[in-house]
Amino acid sequence: MTNQTTTELIDLIEKINLKTEQLVNHFFAKVPDVRDMSIGHKLALWPQEIRDKFTSELSPSELILFTSDWLIWARPKQIAPEGDWTYWLLLAGRGFGKTRSIAEWANKKAREMPESRGAIVAATAGDARDVLIEGFSGILACAPDDFKPHYEPSKRRLTWPNGTVATVFTADKPDRLRGPQFHWAVADELAAWRYPEAWDMLQFGLRLGENPQCAIATTPRPTPIIMELIEDETCHVTTGTTYENVDNLAPAFFNKVIKKYEGTRLGRQELYAQILTDVPGALWNRDLLDETRYLTFPEIYKTAVAIDPAATTGQTGIVVVGIAKIYNEETKKYEDQGFVLDDCTPEPGASPGMWANAAIAAYHKWEADVMVAEINHGGAMVGHTILTSEDSEGINFQTVRASQGKQARGEPVAMLFEQNRVHFIGFLGPLEDELCTWVPNETPESPNRLDAMVWGITHLMVKDIKTNKHKGKTAKPRVVSRQQMGL
Ligand SMILES: Nc1ncnc2c1ncn2[C@@H]1O[C@H](COP(=O)(O)OP(=O)(O)O)[C@@H](O)[C@H]1O
Ligand SMILES: [Mg+2]
Repeated sequence: MTNQTTTELIDLIEKINLKTEQLVNHFFAKVPDVRDMSIGHKLALWPQEIRDKFTSELSPSELILFTSDWLIWARPKQIAPEGDWTYWLLLAGRGFGKTRSIAEWANKKAREMPESRGAIVAATAGDARDVLIEGFSGILACAPDDFKPHYEPSKRRLTWPNGTVATVFTADKPDRLRGPQFHWAVADELAAWRYPEAWDMLQFGLRLGENPQCAIATTPRPTPIIMELIEDETCHVTTGTTYENVDNLAPAFFNKVIKKYEGTRLGRQELYAQILTDVPGALWNRDLLDETRYLTFPEIYKTAVAIDPAATTGQTGIVVVGIAKIYNEETKKYEDQGFVLDDCTPEPGASPGMWANAAIAAYHKWEADVMVAEINHGGAMVGHTILTSEDSEGINFQTVRASQGKQARGEPVAMLFEQNRVHFIGFLGPLEDELCTWVPNETPESPNRLDAMVWGITHLMVKDIKTNKHKGKTAKPRVVSRQQMGL
Protein backbone atom coordinates (compact mmCIF):
# COMPACT_ATOMS: atom_id res chain seq x y z
CA MET A 1 0.00 0.00 0.00
CA THR A 2 1.46 3.36 -0.98
CA ASN A 3 1.37 6.40 1.25
CA GLN A 4 -1.33 7.84 -0.93
CA THR A 5 -3.65 4.87 -0.51
CA THR A 6 -3.07 4.92 3.24
CA THR A 7 -4.11 8.57 3.38
CA GLU A 8 -7.11 7.80 1.19
CA LEU A 9 -8.13 5.00 3.50
CA ILE A 10 -7.71 7.05 6.65
CA ASP A 11 -9.81 9.85 5.14
CA LEU A 12 -12.48 7.37 4.18
CA ILE A 13 -12.58 5.86 7.67
CA GLU A 14 -12.74 9.32 9.20
CA LYS A 15 -15.65 10.26 6.96
CA ILE A 16 -17.60 7.13 7.88
CA ASN A 17 -16.94 7.60 11.58
CA LEU A 18 -18.19 11.19 11.54
CA LYS A 19 -21.23 10.46 9.47
CA THR A 20 -22.13 7.45 11.64
CA GLU A 21 -22.09 9.62 14.73
CA GLN A 22 -24.46 12.13 13.14
CA LEU A 23 -26.76 9.47 11.78
CA VAL A 24 -27.12 7.28 14.85
CA ASN A 25 -28.01 10.27 16.97
CA HIS A 26 -30.52 11.36 14.40
CA PHE A 27 -32.15 8.11 13.31
CA PHE A 28 -32.14 5.83 16.34
CA ALA A 29 -34.45 6.23 19.31
CA LYS A 30 -32.00 4.13 21.35
CA VAL A 31 -28.54 5.14 20.20
CA PRO A 32 -26.51 1.95 19.47
CA ASP A 33 -23.06 1.61 20.98
CA VAL A 34 -20.79 1.88 17.96
CA ARG A 35 -17.49 1.89 19.83
CA ASP A 36 -16.73 -1.79 19.24
CA MET A 37 -18.06 -1.95 15.68
CA SER A 38 -16.03 -2.26 12.49
CA ILE A 39 -16.25 0.57 9.96
CA GLY A 40 -18.16 -1.79 7.65
CA HIS A 41 -20.65 -2.54 10.40
CA LYS A 42 -21.13 1.16 11.12
CA LEU A 43 -21.89 1.78 7.47
CA ALA A 44 -24.45 -1.01 7.57
CA LEU A 45 -26.33 0.97 10.23
CA TRP A 46 -26.90 3.87 7.87
CA PRO A 47 -30.29 4.23 6.22
CA GLN A 48 -30.06 2.55 2.84
CA GLU A 49 -30.54 5.68 0.75
CA ILE A 50 -27.72 7.55 2.41
CA ARG A 51 -25.48 4.51 2.23
CA ASP A 52 -26.15 3.94 -1.47
CA LYS A 53 -25.40 7.56 -2.22
CA PHE A 54 -22.16 7.36 -0.27
CA THR A 55 -20.91 4.19 -1.95
CA SER A 56 -21.88 5.40 -5.42
CA GLU A 57 -19.63 8.42 -4.88
CA LEU A 58 -16.56 6.36 -3.97
CA SER A 59 -13.73 6.49 -6.50
CA PRO A 60 -12.63 3.16 -8.04
CA SER A 61 -9.53 3.05 -5.83
CA GLU A 62 -11.55 3.86 -2.71
CA LEU A 63 -13.94 1.09 -3.65
CA ILE A 64 -11.11 -1.43 -3.84
CA LEU A 65 -9.85 -0.32 -0.44
CA PHE A 66 -13.32 -0.46 0.88
CA THR A 67 -13.99 -4.02 -0.10
CA SER A 68 -10.61 -5.45 0.77
CA ASP A 69 -8.93 -3.59 3.56
CA TRP A 70 -8.77 -5.07 7.04
CA LEU A 71 -9.11 -1.61 8.58
CA ILE A 72 -12.66 -1.49 7.24
CA TRP A 73 -13.69 -4.90 8.56
CA ALA A 74 -11.72 -5.17 11.78
CA ARG A 75 -13.47 -4.31 14.99
CA PRO A 76 -11.44 -1.68 16.87
CA LYS A 77 -10.24 -4.25 19.41
CA GLN A 78 -8.70 -6.27 16.59
CA ILE A 79 -6.33 -3.49 15.59
CA ALA A 80 -3.09 -3.07 17.48
CA PRO A 81 -3.14 -0.02 19.74
CA GLU A 82 -1.11 3.10 18.99
CA GLY A 83 1.96 3.81 21.04
CA ASP A 84 5.25 2.19 21.81
CA TRP A 85 4.11 -0.91 23.68
CA THR A 86 6.37 -3.96 23.64
CA TYR A 87 3.59 -6.52 24.03
CA TRP A 88 0.05 -6.39 22.81
CA LEU A 89 -1.88 -9.13 24.61
CA LEU A 90 -5.21 -9.96 23.02
CA LEU A 91 -7.00 -12.04 25.65
CA ALA A 92 -10.27 -13.16 24.16
CA GLY A 93 -12.71 -16.03 23.85
CA ARG A 94 -12.58 -18.74 21.22
CA GLY A 95 -13.60 -17.48 17.82
CA PHE A 96 -13.22 -13.81 18.78
CA GLY A 97 -10.93 -13.35 15.79
CA LYS A 98 -7.64 -13.38 17.69
CA THR A 99 -5.57 -15.32 15.19
CA ARG A 100 -6.92 -13.17 12.39
CA SER A 101 -5.93 -10.02 14.31
CA ILE A 102 -2.31 -11.02 14.84
CA ALA A 103 -2.00 -12.46 11.32
CA GLU A 104 -3.13 -9.12 9.91
CA TRP A 105 -0.72 -7.35 12.23
CA ALA A 106 2.18 -9.56 11.03
CA ASN A 107 1.48 -8.54 7.42
CA LYS A 108 1.23 -4.89 8.42
CA LYS A 109 4.48 -5.04 10.35
CA ALA A 110 6.21 -6.84 7.47
CA ARG A 111 5.14 -4.07 5.12
CA GLU A 112 6.05 -1.22 7.42
CA MET A 113 9.52 -2.58 8.16
CA PRO A 114 11.16 -3.69 4.91
CA GLU A 115 13.88 -6.29 5.37
CA SER A 116 12.96 -6.74 9.02
CA ARG A 117 13.17 -10.07 10.82
CA GLY A 118 10.07 -11.56 12.42
CA ALA A 119 9.17 -14.62 14.48
CA ILE A 120 5.92 -16.51 14.12
CA VAL A 121 5.27 -18.79 17.05
CA ALA A 122 2.42 -21.20 17.76
CA ALA A 123 1.93 -23.96 20.33
CA THR A 124 2.68 -26.85 17.97
CA ALA A 125 3.94 -27.36 14.42
CA GLY A 126 0.42 -28.24 13.31
CA ASP A 127 -1.00 -25.05 14.82
CA ALA A 128 1.70 -22.92 13.22
CA ARG A 129 1.18 -24.40 9.75
CA ASP A 130 -2.54 -25.16 9.68
CA VAL A 131 -3.82 -22.20 11.69
CA LEU A 132 -1.44 -19.28 11.87
CA ILE A 133 0.12 -19.55 8.40
CA GLU A 134 -2.08 -21.55 6.06
CA GLY A 135 -5.32 -21.32 8.03
CA PHE A 136 -8.53 -19.66 6.93
CA SER A 137 -7.61 -16.56 8.90
CA GLY A 138 -3.85 -17.12 8.79
CA ILE A 139 -1.05 -14.92 7.47
CA LEU A 140 -1.18 -16.15 3.86
CA ALA A 141 -4.94 -15.73 3.57
CA CYS A 142 -4.85 -12.25 5.14
CA ALA A 143 -2.01 -10.89 3.04
CA PRO A 144 -3.23 -8.51 0.31
CA ASP A 145 -2.68 -9.70 -3.26
CA ASP A 146 0.11 -7.23 -3.87
CA PHE A 147 1.97 -8.29 -0.75
CA LYS A 148 1.76 -12.08 -0.45
CA PRO A 149 4.69 -13.67 1.34
CA HIS A 150 6.44 -16.66 -0.21
CA TYR A 151 6.14 -19.62 2.17
CA GLU A 152 8.83 -22.30 2.31
CA PRO A 153 7.56 -24.92 4.79
CA SER A 154 10.80 -26.92 4.77
CA LYS A 155 12.76 -23.84 5.77
CA ARG A 156 10.02 -22.72 8.16
CA ARG A 157 10.22 -19.34 6.50
CA LEU A 158 8.03 -16.61 5.04
CA THR A 159 9.55 -13.98 2.75
CA TRP A 160 7.59 -10.86 1.77
CA PRO A 161 8.19 -8.96 -1.49
CA ASN A 162 10.02 -6.15 0.37
CA GLY A 163 12.62 -8.48 1.84
CA THR A 164 11.02 -8.97 5.27
CA VAL A 165 11.66 -12.50 6.47
CA ALA A 166 9.87 -14.30 9.28
CA THR A 167 10.83 -17.65 10.75
CA VAL A 168 8.26 -20.07 12.08
CA PHE A 169 8.77 -21.61 15.51
CA THR A 170 6.78 -23.91 17.71
CA ALA A 171 6.61 -23.65 21.46
CA ASP A 172 7.17 -27.38 21.90
CA LYS A 173 10.68 -26.96 20.50
CA PRO A 174 12.02 -24.04 22.55
CA ASP A 175 15.64 -24.75 21.61
CA ARG A 176 15.14 -23.49 18.08
CA LEU A 177 14.35 -20.06 19.49
CA ARG A 178 17.77 -19.88 21.08
CA GLY A 179 19.98 -17.55 19.07
CA PRO A 180 17.99 -15.78 16.36
CA GLN A 181 16.98 -12.14 16.84
CA PHE A 182 13.88 -10.29 15.70
CA HIS A 183 12.29 -6.90 15.16
CA TRP A 184 8.81 -8.23 15.71
CA ALA A 185 6.96 -11.41 16.63
CA VAL A 186 3.49 -12.90 16.76
CA ALA A 187 2.57 -15.52 19.35
CA ASP A 188 -0.63 -17.51 19.02
CA GLU A 189 -2.33 -19.23 21.97
CA LEU A 190 0.43 -18.39 24.42
CA ALA A 191 -1.52 -19.83 27.35
CA ALA A 192 -1.38 -23.23 25.64
CA TRP A 193 2.39 -23.35 25.15
CA ARG A 194 3.84 -26.40 26.77
CA TYR A 195 7.22 -25.01 27.84
CA PRO A 196 7.71 -21.55 29.40
CA GLU A 197 11.25 -21.66 28.04
CA ALA A 198 9.89 -20.94 24.56
CA TRP A 199 8.50 -17.64 25.79
CA ASP A 200 11.74 -16.78 27.60
CA MET A 201 13.75 -17.45 24.45
CA LEU A 202 11.38 -15.42 22.29
CA GLN A 203 11.64 -12.43 24.62
CA PHE A 204 15.37 -12.77 24.57
CA GLY A 205 15.50 -12.73 20.76
CA LEU A 206 13.16 -9.75 20.49
CA ARG A 207 15.87 -7.14 20.41
CA LEU A 208 16.38 -5.73 16.91
CA GLY A 209 15.50 -2.17 16.00
CA GLU A 210 14.34 0.67 18.18
CA ASN A 211 11.09 -0.76 19.41
CA PRO A 212 10.76 -4.51 19.04
CA GLN A 213 7.12 -5.56 19.40
CA CYS A 214 5.25 -8.79 19.96
CA ALA A 215 1.53 -9.34 19.34
CA ILE A 216 0.10 -12.15 21.44
CA ALA A 217 -3.31 -13.75 21.03
CA THR A 218 -4.70 -16.27 23.45
CA THR A 219 -7.68 -17.55 25.33
CA PRO A 220 -6.61 -16.91 28.89
CA ARG A 221 -5.45 -19.33 31.52
CA PRO A 222 -3.81 -18.26 34.76
CA THR A 223 -0.32 -19.43 33.81
CA PRO A 224 2.58 -17.51 35.36
CA ILE A 225 3.44 -16.01 31.95
CA ILE A 226 -0.04 -14.62 31.37
CA MET A 227 -0.31 -13.28 34.91
CA GLU A 228 3.05 -11.55 34.55
CA LEU A 229 2.17 -10.02 31.20
CA ILE A 230 -1.04 -8.56 32.57
CA GLU A 231 0.99 -6.77 35.23
CA ASP A 232 3.72 -5.67 32.80
CA GLU A 233 3.70 -1.93 32.14
CA THR A 234 4.98 -2.38 28.60
CA CYS A 235 2.06 -4.67 27.80
CA HIS A 236 -1.20 -3.36 26.35
CA VAL A 237 -4.04 -5.76 27.20
CA THR A 238 -7.19 -6.00 25.08
CA THR A 239 -10.02 -8.29 26.19
CA GLY A 240 -13.03 -9.58 24.32
CA THR A 241 -15.63 -12.33 24.20
CA THR A 242 -16.56 -14.89 21.58
CA TYR A 243 -19.92 -13.18 21.11
CA GLU A 244 -18.33 -10.03 19.70
CA ASN A 245 -17.51 -11.98 16.54
CA VAL A 246 -20.63 -14.08 16.44
CA ASP A 247 -21.76 -12.69 13.07
CA ASN A 248 -18.63 -14.06 11.45
CA LEU A 249 -18.60 -17.53 12.98
CA ALA A 250 -19.69 -20.54 10.96
CA PRO A 251 -22.84 -22.15 12.44
CA ALA A 252 -21.00 -25.48 12.65
CA PHE A 253 -18.24 -23.92 14.79
CA PHE A 254 -20.84 -22.30 16.95
CA ASN A 255 -22.80 -25.49 17.47
CA LYS A 256 -19.85 -27.80 17.96
CA VAL A 257 -17.42 -25.67 19.94
CA ILE A 258 -19.28 -22.78 21.52
CA LYS A 259 -22.46 -24.58 22.61
CA LYS A 260 -20.38 -27.05 24.60
CA TYR A 261 -19.09 -24.30 26.86
CA GLU A 262 -22.22 -22.22 27.27
CA GLY A 263 -23.38 -22.08 30.88
CA THR A 264 -20.32 -23.97 32.15
CA ARG A 265 -17.59 -22.75 34.45
CA LEU A 266 -14.97 -23.32 31.77
CA GLY A 267 -17.12 -21.29 29.42
CA ARG A 268 -16.29 -18.25 31.49
CA GLN A 269 -12.69 -18.78 30.44
CA GLU A 270 -13.18 -20.11 26.92
CA LEU A 271 -15.94 -17.73 25.79
CA TYR A 272 -15.74 -14.72 28.08
CA ALA A 273 -11.96 -14.79 28.54
CA GLN A 274 -12.20 -14.46 32.30
CA ILE A 275 -9.16 -15.65 34.17
CA LEU A 276 -10.31 -18.41 36.48
CA THR A 277 -7.98 -18.81 39.37
CA ASP A 278 -9.12 -20.91 42.29
CA VAL A 279 -12.31 -22.87 42.01
CA PRO A 280 -13.48 -23.87 45.50
CA GLY A 281 -14.22 -27.57 45.79
CA ALA A 282 -12.10 -28.65 42.81
CA LEU A 283 -9.80 -31.60 43.58
CA TRP A 284 -6.80 -29.88 41.99
CA ASN A 285 -5.71 -26.26 41.85
CA ARG A 286 -3.23 -24.28 39.77
CA ASP A 287 -0.72 -23.84 42.60
CA LEU A 288 -0.65 -27.57 43.25
CA LEU A 289 0.06 -28.28 39.58
CA ASP A 290 2.73 -25.55 39.42
CA GLU A 291 4.46 -26.68 42.59
CA THR A 292 4.69 -30.27 41.41
CA ARG A 293 5.49 -29.50 37.77
CA TYR A 294 8.60 -30.81 35.99
CA LEU A 295 9.97 -29.04 32.92
CA THR A 296 12.18 -31.88 31.69
CA PHE A 297 11.60 -35.57 31.20
CA PRO A 298 12.97 -38.00 33.77
CA GLU A 299 13.81 -41.55 32.72
CA ILE A 300 10.39 -43.09 32.39
CA TYR A 301 10.39 -46.87 32.71
CA LYS A 302 6.72 -47.68 32.23
CA THR A 303 4.15 -45.87 30.14
CA ALA A 304 0.39 -46.20 29.81
CA VAL A 305 -2.03 -44.71 27.31
CA ALA A 306 -5.36 -44.27 29.07
CA ILE A 307 -8.68 -43.82 27.28
CA ASP A 308 -11.95 -42.56 28.63
CA PRO A 309 -14.39 -43.03 25.74
CA ALA A 310 -17.09 -40.43 25.15
CA ALA A 311 -20.50 -41.53 26.40
CA THR A 312 -22.46 -40.97 23.21
CA THR A 313 -21.40 -37.68 21.75
CA GLY A 314 -18.79 -35.61 23.54
CA GLN A 315 -15.09 -36.07 23.81
CA THR A 316 -12.92 -39.15 24.25
CA GLY A 317 -10.10 -38.43 26.67
CA ILE A 318 -6.69 -39.90 25.75
CA VAL A 319 -3.86 -39.18 28.16
CA VAL A 320 -0.36 -40.67 28.32
CA VAL A 321 1.19 -41.19 31.74
CA GLY A 322 4.37 -42.85 32.94
CA ILE A 323 6.39 -43.71 36.01
CA ALA A 324 10.03 -43.09 36.87
CA LYS A 325 12.22 -43.83 39.87
CA ILE A 326 12.78 -40.54 41.69
CA TYR A 327 14.96 -39.97 44.72
CA ASN A 328 12.94 -38.87 47.73
CA GLU A 329 14.98 -36.52 49.92
CA GLU A 330 12.89 -37.29 52.98
CA THR A 331 12.92 -41.06 52.89
CA LYS A 332 16.37 -41.20 51.23
CA LYS A 333 15.03 -43.79 48.86
CA TYR A 334 14.16 -44.04 45.21
CA GLU A 335 10.42 -44.35 44.73
CA ASP A 336 7.98 -44.61 41.85
CA GLN A 337 6.58 -41.26 40.85
CA GLY A 338 4.00 -40.58 38.17
CA PHE A 339 4.31 -38.19 35.21
CA VAL A 340 1.68 -36.83 32.88
CA LEU A 341 3.45 -37.08 29.54
CA ASP A 342 0.93 -36.07 26.91
CA ASP A 343 -2.70 -35.30 26.18
CA CYS A 344 -3.74 -36.77 22.83
CA THR A 345 -7.47 -36.14 23.23
CA PRO A 346 -9.05 -35.56 19.81
CA GLU A 347 -11.63 -32.88 19.05
CA PRO A 348 -15.14 -33.36 20.48
CA GLY A 349 -17.31 -35.54 18.27
CA ALA A 350 -14.38 -37.54 16.86
CA SER A 351 -15.62 -40.89 15.51
CA PRO A 352 -14.49 -44.13 17.18
CA GLY A 353 -12.11 -44.69 14.26
CA MET A 354 -10.55 -41.29 14.83
CA TRP A 355 -10.01 -41.64 18.56
CA ALA A 356 -8.76 -45.20 18.13
CA ASN A 357 -6.15 -43.92 15.67
CA ALA A 358 -5.16 -41.14 18.07
CA ALA A 359 -4.75 -43.66 20.91
CA ILE A 360 -2.75 -46.09 18.78
CA ALA A 361 -0.52 -43.29 17.48
CA ALA A 362 0.09 -42.19 21.08
CA TYR A 363 0.92 -45.79 22.06
CA HIS A 364 3.57 -46.06 19.35
CA LYS A 365 4.93 -42.55 19.78
CA TRP A 366 5.53 -43.08 23.50
CA GLU A 367 6.49 -46.75 23.09
CA ALA A 368 3.89 -47.50 25.71
CA ASP A 369 3.68 -50.70 27.72
CA VAL A 370 -0.05 -50.77 28.11
CA MET A 371 -3.27 -49.20 26.85
CA VAL A 372 -6.09 -49.03 29.41
CA ALA A 373 -9.63 -48.16 28.42
CA GLU A 374 -12.67 -47.62 30.56
CA ILE A 375 -15.55 -49.68 29.21
CA ASN A 376 -18.64 -48.61 31.13
CA HIS A 377 -19.95 -47.01 27.99
CA GLY A 378 -19.91 -49.20 24.97
CA GLY A 379 -18.23 -52.25 26.55
CA ALA A 380 -16.96 -54.56 23.87
CA MET A 381 -17.12 -51.82 21.25
CA VAL A 382 -14.12 -50.07 22.74
CA GLY A 383 -11.80 -53.07 22.54
CA HIS A 384 -13.15 -53.97 19.15
CA THR A 385 -12.52 -50.48 17.82
CA ILE A 386 -8.94 -50.45 19.03
CA LEU A 387 -8.00 -54.01 18.12
CA THR A 388 -9.48 -53.88 14.63
CA SER A 389 -7.71 -50.62 13.80
CA GLU A 390 -4.63 -50.46 11.66
CA ASP A 391 -1.33 -50.69 13.54
CA SER A 392 -2.96 -52.27 16.61
CA GLU A 393 -0.85 -55.43 16.32
CA GLY A 394 1.05 -56.06 19.52
CA ILE A 395 -0.81 -53.54 21.65
CA ASN A 396 -1.18 -54.64 25.26
CA PHE A 397 -4.81 -53.65 25.64
CA GLN A 398 -6.58 -53.78 28.98
CA THR A 399 -10.01 -52.68 30.02
CA VAL A 400 -11.27 -51.38 33.28
CA ARG A 401 -14.81 -50.90 34.51
CA ALA A 402 -15.76 -48.07 36.83
CA SER A 403 -17.41 -49.34 39.96
CA GLN A 404 -16.92 -46.13 41.92
CA GLY A 405 -17.90 -42.57 41.23
CA LYS A 406 -15.56 -40.09 39.64
CA GLN A 407 -14.84 -38.46 42.97
CA ALA A 408 -13.78 -41.69 44.67
CA ARG A 409 -11.53 -42.45 41.71
CA GLY A 410 -10.12 -38.95 41.52
CA GLU A 411 -9.34 -38.39 45.18
CA PRO A 412 -6.46 -40.87 45.57
CA VAL A 413 -4.85 -39.45 42.42
CA ALA A 414 -5.24 -35.86 43.63
CA MET A 415 -3.70 -37.00 46.90
CA LEU A 416 -0.64 -38.30 45.05
CA PHE A 417 -0.17 -34.83 43.55
CA GLU A 418 -0.44 -33.36 47.04
CA GLN A 419 2.30 -35.74 48.20
CA ASN A 420 4.45 -34.51 45.30
CA ARG A 421 4.40 -37.98 43.77
CA VAL A 422 2.69 -37.14 40.44
CA HIS A 423 3.84 -34.35 38.14
CA PHE A 424 2.92 -32.65 34.92
CA ILE A 425 5.77 -32.23 32.47
CA GLY A 426 5.40 -28.73 31.04
CA PHE A 427 1.87 -27.32 30.72
CA LEU A 428 -1.02 -29.30 29.27
CA GLY A 429 -3.60 -26.52 29.32
CA PRO A 430 -6.95 -28.14 28.51
CA LEU A 431 -6.31 -31.09 30.84
CA GLU A 432 -5.20 -28.77 33.63
CA ASP A 433 -8.35 -26.69 33.06
CA GLU A 434 -10.48 -29.77 33.64
CA LEU A 435 -8.60 -30.75 36.80
CA CYS A 436 -8.84 -27.28 38.30
CA THR A 437 -12.47 -26.56 37.46
CA TRP A 438 -14.19 -29.89 37.99
CA VAL A 439 -16.08 -29.89 41.26
CA PRO A 440 -17.38 -33.31 42.33
CA ASN A 441 -21.17 -33.55 42.43
CA GLU A 442 -21.52 -30.08 41.07
CA THR A 443 -20.05 -29.67 37.60
CA PRO A 444 -22.59 -31.03 35.14
CA GLU A 445 -20.18 -31.79 32.29
CA SER A 446 -18.13 -34.95 32.31
CA PRO A 447 -14.43 -34.16 32.04
CA ASN A 448 -12.98 -36.97 29.93
CA ARG A 449 -9.36 -35.81 29.88
CA LEU A 450 -9.45 -35.79 33.68
CA ASP A 451 -10.94 -39.26 33.74
CA ALA A 452 -8.40 -40.63 31.29
CA MET A 453 -5.56 -39.23 33.40
CA VAL A 454 -7.09 -40.71 36.55
CA TRP A 455 -7.41 -44.13 34.88
CA GLY A 456 -3.81 -44.01 33.74
CA ILE A 457 -2.32 -42.97 37.09
CA THR A 458 -4.57 -45.39 38.93
CA HIS A 459 -3.38 -48.18 36.69
CA LEU A 460 0.28 -47.39 37.21
CA MET A 461 0.29 -46.27 40.82
CA VAL A 462 -2.90 -46.75 42.81
CA LYS A 463 -3.63 -50.37 42.07
CA ASP A 464 -2.50 -51.47 45.49
CA ILE A 465 -4.47 -48.84 47.36
CA LYS A 466 -7.10 -50.55 49.49
CA THR A 467 -10.40 -49.47 48.12
CA ASN A 468 -12.68 -51.42 50.40
CA LYS A 469 -13.22 -48.39 52.58
CA HIS A 470 -15.28 -47.08 49.70
CA LYS A 471 -18.43 -48.86 48.76
CA GLY A 472 -18.06 -51.06 45.71
CA LYS A 473 -15.18 -53.10 44.44
CA THR A 474 -11.82 -52.12 43.05
CA ALA A 475 -11.91 -51.58 39.34
CA LYS A 476 -9.95 -54.64 38.18
CA PRO A 477 -8.12 -54.36 34.91
CA ARG A 478 -8.85 -57.13 32.47
CA VAL A 479 -6.51 -58.07 29.66
CA VAL A 480 -8.29 -58.55 26.38
CA SER A 481 -6.46 -60.68 23.87
CA ARG A 482 -7.08 -60.58 20.16
CA GLN A 483 -8.07 -64.28 20.30
CA GLN A 484 -10.73 -63.59 22.91
CA MET A 485 -12.17 -61.00 20.61
CA GLY A 486 -12.21 -63.54 17.80
CA LEU A 487 -9.71 -61.55 15.74
N1 LIG B 1 -13.60 -8.54 11.81
C1 LIG B 1 -13.89 -9.68 11.18
N2 LIG B 1 -14.68 -9.68 10.09
C2 LIG B 1 -14.99 -10.84 9.46
N3 LIG B 1 -14.56 -12.05 9.84
C3 LIG B 1 -13.76 -12.12 10.92
C4 LIG B 1 -13.38 -10.95 11.65
N4 LIG B 1 -12.57 -11.33 12.67
C5 LIG B 1 -12.45 -12.68 12.58
N5 LIG B 1 -13.17 -13.15 11.54
C6 LIG B 1 -13.33 -14.56 11.16
O1 LIG B 1 -13.87 -15.25 12.28
C7 LIG B 1 -13.36 -16.58 12.35
C8 LIG B 1 -12.69 -16.82 13.70
O2 LIG B 1 -11.50 -16.05 13.76
P1 LIG B 1 -10.14 -16.56 14.41
O3 LIG B 1 -9.14 -15.50 14.22
O4 LIG B 1 -9.80 -17.92 13.93
O5 LIG B 1 -10.61 -16.65 15.94
P2 LIG B 1 -9.82 -17.07 17.25
O6 LIG B 1 -8.38 -17.17 16.91
O7 LIG B 1 -10.13 -15.98 18.22
O8 LIG B 1 -10.44 -18.36 17.69
C9 LIG B 1 -12.40 -16.71 11.18
O9 LIG B 1 -13.08 -17.27 10.12
C10 LIG B 1 -12.02 -15.27 10.89
O10 LIG B 1 -11.57 -15.07 9.57
MG1 LIG C 1 -7.03 -18.74 17.07
